[in-house]
Amino acid sequence: MIMERIYITDVAPRDGLQNQSVAVSTEDKFTLISKLVDAGIENVEVTSFVSPKAVPMMSDAAELLPKVQNAFPHLNSFALVPNLKGLEKAQEVGVKEVALVLCATETMNQKNINMGLPEAIQSTLNLIEQSKQLNIRSRTYISVAFDCPYEGETPLQRVVELARQMYEAGTDQIVIADTIGSAAPAQVSQRIDEILKYIPQEKVVIHLHDTRGMAVANAWAALQSGIRWFDASVGGIGGCPFAPGAAGNMATEDLVLMAEQSGFDTGISLPKLLHAVDHAQQALNKSLGGGSMKWLRQNVKAAAPLNLNTQKVFT
Ligand code: HMG
Ligand code: MG
Repeated sequence: MIMERIYITDVAPRDGLQNQSVAVSTEDKFTLISKLVDAGIENVEVTSFVSPKAVPMMSDAAELLPKVQNAFPHLNSFALVPNLKGLEKAQEVGVKEVALVLCATETMNQKNINMGLPEAIQSTLNLIEQSKQLNIRSRTYISVAFDCPYEGETPLQRVVELARQMYEAGTDQIVIADTIGSAAPAQVSQRIDEILKYIPQEKVVIHLHDTRGMAVANAWAALQSGIRWFDASVGGIGGCPFAPGAAGNMATEDLVLMAEQSGFDTGISLPKLLHAVDHAQQALNKSLGGGSMKWLRQNVKAAAPLNLNTQKVFT
């Protein structure tokens, strides 16, 4: 049986660590990324070039990114940049891909990057253009694409319009983000189906937070709508410091288990992924893991082949 491939980006080193109360050393971040690579992760959001006053945990970006790029030349490693200054700083150390953030509401942009929505749209368009000129790939997050912690439900047509505008401006991927983890599968299907009327399926990524324990169900809804690119965070760590109520991201191990058991190939080894969780736990000094962690700990032995009773659900 040929299993269909899905593509996972681990955002733990950036989204997962940006809001932690414990300081994590550059060496520990590097080790975490090494363990993700060892587990078969091919795409990693390594860091962000943001104001160190706004997010102190990312202040080692210029040291970490080249270290990772040099050690893992085949890894698609990228960094978030909030403005032109961030792009310049990332370019100075040889970034190959940047993540841009456009929030779909006025207030969320103000809180996140100190710009209103019209200014943030213009800034993102400029960043897409500048990146292209520098031969740097870009992915553009459409944040608060479901609900905003300040303004409530985000109008769907606005999300579609922003996603379409950024796609037409030439960004390489559009990342639809459930920033505060408030979506349910029905909303995911509805919003993704609408977005896919305007943007090719292979250009759309879904970025889910797991505040209400529905991230895996939401990922399944996205899969059924045709999405094949997913963001997730090992151990389920994550959250935006400027979005109250945002819990961790969908745990990578939950997504891998769900996808593999449902007949998709992720290219990721669950036993090895648990080593990455172990390292994150040690670095953050707390126990981590998504909803599947207890079962995984009992059933997945390091290096042992997994029998997940895989069913072919997509024919
Ligand atoms: P500002 O205060 O308006 O910026 O902040 P400014 O241009 O007035 O500059 C203020 C100071 O910051 C100056 O330094 C600048 O040089 C410096 P000072 O003169 O005071 O010493 N500065 C920078 N330093 C380093 N890198 C930069 C940079 N830009 C200015 N790029 C700013 C605006 C965007 C800088 C600030 O608001 C910021 O850094 N925000 C960080 C936002 C952030 O990291 N949010 C979390 C990531 S988004 C997220 O988590 C959502 C996501 O996961 C998807 C989802 O789930 O929805 C992606
Ligand atoms: Mg996020």
